[in-house]
Amino acid sequence: MKYAHIIGWGHYLPKQILTNDEIASEVDTNHEWIFTRTGISSRRIADKSETAATLAFEAAARALTRANIHPSEVDLIIVATSTPEYIFPSTASQVQSYLGAENAGAFDLSAACSGFVYALDMATQAIGTGSVRNAIVIGAEVMSRVLDWKDRGTCILFGDGAGAVVLQGSSIPGGVLASTMHADGSGGNLLSLPAVYHNPIPALGEEFLSQNGTTKNTIDMQGRQVFRFASRVVPESIMEVAEKANWNLDEIDLVVPHQANVRIIESVSKKIGIPMSKFFMNVNHAGNTSAASIPIALCEAVDAGRLRPNDNVVFVGFGGGLTWSAAAVNWLVLPSEKQPRFLDHEWRRMRYVFARQRAKLRQWSRQIGARLAGSPTPDASLKDGKNKK
Ligand code: ACO
Repeated sequence: MKYAHIIGWGHYLPKQILTNDEIASEVDTNHEWIFTRTGISSRRIADKSETAATLAFEAAARALTRANIHPSEVDLIIVATSTPEYIFPSTASQVQSYLGAENAGAFDLSAACSGFVYALDMATQAIGTGSVRNAIVIGAEVMSRVLDWKDRGTCILFGDGAGAVVLQGSSIPGGVLASTMHADGSGGNLLSLPAVYHNPIPALGEEFLSQNGTTKNTIDMQGRQVFRFASRVVPESIMEVAEKANWNLDEIDLVVPHQANVRIIESVSKKIGIPMSKFFMNVNHAGNTSAASIPIALCEAVDAGRLRPNDNVVFVGFGGGLTWSAAAVNWLVLPSEKQPRFLDHEWRRMRYVFARQRAKLRQWSRQIGARLAGSPTPDASLKDGKNKK
């Protein structure tokens, strides 16, 4: 049996801070309303040059430095995102190229705000079977690009960012011990983001029209219903995953929930009887970064000294789909864990510059090769119709 241990973690938040007051200067809202209903004061916004892939790369690079492993040792990269630049190439493929992770397979996973926990489960299973030794699991989002900035019910909630973990297989018990994944597609219309090519959206039916009856390519949400759904499934998920991991609830040291709203978590805390002090929250300054929120909060929890070796931590996600999921992780620091060396980070950054140059060279050599080879001409026999039956 191979256990999947988290041996590296990293996050990246764009530099630009957008406060509630700044939003209130554009739409009819105010700091007091936003803060008391959600716990959010500010969020980060990506600049024009940043994409889900560049944010994901920054987080992954930091996680690899912490894990002290080389990109060529990575076998699998999964990016959980709802805001990719392209359907294909996947965000994960772009990250693979930016890192120069030449031995890694790469794909994106779409499960909205539950995406990171789903992806963690996929990578854990791959490690468990022995087909993968090292995997990077990333949550990355540029939510600011899919918001209707005139819709005060949604634009106040979301922010941009990325978080990543490096998972490594080991025979030492610990790491990701159990997970759960759930979905209820009948609630898909409660929280939706149409793909660009689905506008208008005849195939999905009228329930996918936004609340004012129009189609749009921005997030549509029925906030109260999502609130009720989250308050119900989060306690159930925590109990289910704790049972799978053979933990009593009082053996849980920390819960890192999807960072959507402090009030949701307060209601979860009351329902399940785990004190708020055991829930790590950073929604105040990061907003809701969808699939990125759990790994970003995890990194901040580690930085704040909230996780000690051998602690039991639960990640719990919920969101569009509807989807919800949880993971039970025994935070074990492996004896073989190496500390990053002095200047290691700078040396690695140089390597990433080389990786991008190498990718460009490959593109050029492909273009030159294609020119030299000329256009492929159809087989003469096919042209004459000789092969027709
Ligand atoms: N500022 C001021 N007033 C507002 C704002 C705003 N930003 N937004 C709504 N209002 C008004 C409404 O128009 C309404 O006014 P009315 O009573 O005159 O009609 C009133 O406030 C109440 O509106 P509700 O939508 O019922 O407000 P609610 O208390 O439910 O709070 C909120 C809204 C914060 C969105 C809440 O429902 C919520 O947090 N829901 C969960 C959303 C969530 O977490 N989504 C993400 C999960 S999954 C994922 O991350 C993709």
